[in-house]
Amino acid sequence: KTIPATLIPGDGIGPEIMDAVTEILDAVGAPFAWDKQLAGMAAVEATGNPLPPQTIDSIRRTGLALKSPLTTPVGGGFKSINVTLRQEFGLYANLRPTRTFVPGGRFDKIDLVLVRENLEGYYAAMESYIPVGDDPHGIATGAGYNSRAECNRIVRFAFEYAVKHGRKKVTLVHKANILKLLTGLFLEEGRKVAKEYEGRVECNERIVDACAMQLVIDPWQYDVIVTTNLFGDILSDLTAGLVGGLGMAPGANIGEKAAVFEAVHGSAPDIAGKNLANPLALLLAANMMLEHVGRDDLSKRIESGIRAVITKRELLTRDLGGNSGTREFTAALKQHLV
Ligand code: NAI
Ligand code: MG
Repeated sequence: KTIPATLIPGDGIGPEIMDAVTEILDAVGAPFAWDKQLAGMAAVEATGNPLPPQTIDSIRRTGLALKSPLTTPVGGGFKSINVTLRQEFGLYANLRPTRTFVPGGRFDKIDLVLVRENLEGYYAAMESYIPVGDDPHGIATGAGYNSRAECNRIVRFAFEYAVKHGRKKVTLVHKANILKLLTGLFLEEGRKVAKEYEGRVECNERIVDACAMQLVIDPWQYDVIVTTNLFGDILSDLTAGLVGGLGMAPGANIGEKAAVFEAVHGSAPDIAGKNLANPLALLLAANMMLEHVGRDDLSKRIESGIRAVITKRELLTRDLGGNSGTREFTAALKQHLV
């Protein structure tokens, strides 16, 4: 049975890494029936709009998208495409797994997942200036909000994820000692949800600054982390850094009606069209998509292939210390699929 899914080849290295990923997905017989759609600069050039209505309609229909990085048009009053997608489809959970694939880095055997609330917090951008004397921008203010319903929903998402993926512990990360209401409500709902999972999933709490320090000193103590928007944005880049940066970092934006899977890195215009890009972050995102539709059997095959090919350093792309181009690496990975 095939599963309709939207495919966005994107900009810069996007089309190259998307070709590599669909080649691997085809090799394992992934069930997706792709509906190819434009977004980003490619869409601006073709239609004048970085996120055309056809693309939105396609995602509304399929509820599932694999998206390559998009070049954000500078100026021209375009709103961020990622933010528009999040709001349009209520993609409230940003899921960022972090695992060591290339051994011998600064940290070995990292395996943790960060769940970030994607819609509320300080990123609602309720900002304004207050004049001071003759300086109209003498004071800048920003307000944030967290709703009880959303705090409950995001923590529940993290616990459900833990149950489904056999994870043992969820850490609620907050700053309720200072932001007593804004993140206190998150902690209050978090504790409530944690009670429902008692005996199945362990729960503990960390203040965000202490969590940042401990992620660097002893990241192995973490399993699933759940936190509010701003803290999650910062901590998820920190966790990507634990395993060697953006080249291996996948992400998913998940809502009740749609889910969008992507690499965390950008369109890398400096290496676009040169057969240099590493497709692994997008491939790991495609793996998350396979798991999302219940095809863990296929994601496990791809993951075993990745783990096998990675032991032969010379076969990897240059960013991982190898000699391969995107196409040569993809061919090598295909041979390591069992
Ligand atoms: P970037 O992630 O595209 O590149 C940063 C550095 O990492 C560059 O040196 C690049 O060559 C390298 N790099 C990135 N991905 C790589 C890969 N798969 N293999 C090998 N090397 C890789 O970030 P940058 O340069 O800040 O942004 C470029 C464009 O991408 C901008 O227009 C930005 O707005 C957009 N962007 C889009 C994102 C998305 O669609 N989700 C996320 C981040 C940036
Ligand atoms: Mg960020």
